[in-house]
Amino acid sequence: MAIKKEMQDAINDQINAEMFSAYLYLSMASWFEDEDLPGFGNWMRCQYMEETMHAMKFFNFLNERGGRAVLKAIEGPDTSWKSYDEAFAAVVKHEEYISERINKLVTLARKLEDYATESFLLWYVDEQVEEEDTSNTILVKLKRLKDDQNGLLRYDEEMSARVLSALAVPTILDQPVVA
Ligand code: FEO
Repeated sequence: MAIKKEMQDAINDQINAEMFSAYLYLSMASWFEDEDLPGFGNWMRCQYMEETMHAMKFFNFLNERGGRAVLKAIEGPDTSWKSYDEAFAAVVKHEEYISERINKLVTLARKLEDYATESFLLWYVDEQVEEEDTSNTILVKLKRLKDDQNGLLRYDEEMSARVLSALAVPTILDQPVVA
């Protein structure tokens, strides 16, 4: 059964929200790198790619359900923040906002008795728990390191180790990557 227009429109709005998330984190990558914190820049670049994958997973789903992804203009994100912890407080707030949006999509899928979409959305429900937890953890650590420059540089080095999980890649393609 093809996806209903109301559900498709809501998912298209979510594709836009995920692309905005990608744009926001890419903007933060630029800012952190300009602040000479390349590790945080790397973390944000990974986050940017992960958000693009979130958008693409929705994009693929619409195609599979006989719908169509319709792309809209992406709003310009902020380009600077007053402090490092203020930047991460913005990440936490944004992820909480995205979680609310995902919950509303689940509510809509239930209302429309669209169980295929509801089942698909549960991946995002779980993902948001992780997104909120990770950003909160980093925020708490940054607050603790506020006046500790050496600690901040050590943390930056730690952040440079993040690589995008290979397991996340198939979510772009919705098929395993073959060598
Ligand atoms: Fe796609 Fe960070 O939520």
